[in-house]
Amino acid sequence: MTSVVILISGRGSNMASLLDAAASGALPVRIAGVLSNWPDAQGLQTAAAHGVPTQVLDHRLFAEREAFDAALAETIDRLAPDLLVLAGFMRILGDRFVRRYEGRLINIHPSLLPAFPGLHTHRRALAEGVRIHGCTVHFVTPDLDHGPVIVQAAVPVLDQDDEASLAARVLVQEHRIYLLAVRWFAEGRLRLRDGRVLLDAPQDDSGRLIVPQTPPG
Ligand code: GRF
Repeated sequence: MTSVVILISGRGSNMASLLDAAASGALPVRIAGVLSNWPDAQGLQTAAAHGVPTQVLDHRLFAEREAFDAALAETIDRLAPDLLVLAGFMRILGDRFVRRYEGRLINIHPSLLPAFPGLHTHRRALAEGVRIHGCTVHFVTPDLDHGPVIVQAAVPVLDQDDEASLAARVLVQEHRIYLLAVRWFAEGRLRLRDGRVLLDAPQDDSGRLIVPQTPPG
């Protein structure tokens, strides 16, 4: 079975939805471990409650990014995952780390990339007045928030939206598409070749842009 390591920094709701799906058998993966760069990340408790091994690698204890990355890679390799999932992991990973896991390192970002890379995506989407926002699962490359897109979900921006309401609506879709991408990978249907996404998906979920049918108000 595909073995997965999840990297978090905080709340861990994307992680939790993957753990739930794996535990119920809906997702054919084994979660080998959850790693956090923050000792007080809320998601660590959730993972422990699921009986998943957790480890903390506090980035503040490392003088240089390269040293942190190397220690992180060592910790990950001991768990020997097939897939590495970034779920709200708030550290920039260096080129060397990213290349080491090329093709098996994925991230979720709360915008329709390439729009709004970086932080505060919902606030910026509202400030720009875009009518469609969303989220993206992508393979990670050395360019921050710019890797090849695996799947996206669109979310309408409503007149009455504020940052919190928009973020909440996007988060529902994040959980949905991250599950989809991890399932595709676990089923051997998703690959990265020459910097492009190859996806062999059946009819019912072949759409790589998910547009919710009834946008909740
Ligand atoms: C999510 O919005 C994710 O897209 C972004 O950070 C947030 C993490 O949320 N990278 P959670 O920790 O999964 O709840």
